[in-house]
Amino acid sequence: MFDLLKKTQYEYSRNEADVWELFHENSKVDKNKPIVPNDVVIQKMRNELDTLDYRSFATVALPETAPTVALDLASCILNRKSSSEWALTSMTFEELGMLLQLSYGVTRSNKDTDYVRPFRACPSGGGLYPLEIFLNVRNVEGLAPGLYHFNPHKNAVECLREGDQTFKLCSAFVQRQVIEGAACVWMVSGMFRRSTFKYSNRGYRFALLEAGHLAQNANLVATGLGLGVLNMGGYFDREIDKYLDLNGVDQSVIYCLAFGRAH
Ligand SMILES: Cc1cc2nc3c(=O)[nH]c(=O)nc-3n(C[C@H](O)[C@H](O)[C@H](O)COP(=O)(O)O)c2cc1C
Repeated sequence: MFDLLKKTQYEYSRNEADVWELFHENSKVDKNKPIVPNDVVIQKMRNELDTLDYRSFATVALPETAPTVALDLASCILNRKSSSEWALTSMTFEELGMLLQLSYGVTRSNKDTDYVRPFRACPSGGGLYPLEIFLNVRNVEGLAPGLYHFNPHKNAVECLREGDQTFKLCSAFVQRQVIEGAACVWMVSGMFRRSTFKYSNRGYRFALLEAGHLAQNANLVATGLGLGVLNMGGYFDREIDKYLDLNGVDQSVIYCLAFGRAH
């Protein structure tokens, strides 16, 4: 029985390897593949929003005042480290607002070009912005606990569920104690078709790469603000997708970040 189990696990991991090899091969740029014409791309970008818009939900504008960042850029990079040993102390809404704006917020207009979508704080393949940030707010001074969505165009968060949801969410993480102790947890999700309609399989790669850019912005800002941050890949995707009401196929969580005040 034990040998059988070992063999099955071995075969299972081999199959997984085959999938990523196949994916990598199929997401290579190929001179022989036709590209999507520019007018089709422009039309699609005009017709579709680059953010989910929870219109009927209560909207809370991000604070206009920004907290002081005590460190220069080099110090933020040198001091960045994973942190999960945090006390359940709160962070402030000003700090959260700055984290959101400098990670994935709108930074400059694009209205004078054919590509109508404004630019954001992180680079994006084709300027398509396939990511969404959902936030579990537990202990943020100035913002009631609940599940929120960041809307970069409104520069606001939309409250999807009121009240502390942490007890429902923590079992979706391998290290549930990290989630219980965090002041705020981000669930960065990919709306893959926003990118794959143009770049096909490579668009999926682009969404994952973009999540890394977004997360690094957040890591450096958090360090500058004296906050602890943990980047998390250890979560049960299906549970989080269900929790966020994402279909798990072309919409799915791809990265999580937990923030808190480090010990
Ligand atoms: C994609 C990714 C996923 C990660 N997932 C987890 C995780 O689920 N739990 C955890 O404790 N740390 C996680 N980490 C943090 C790494 O363990 C950490 O970055 C590494 O040990 C290097 O330490 P440093 O971040 O302090 O430099 C993750 C890091 C990355 C980049």
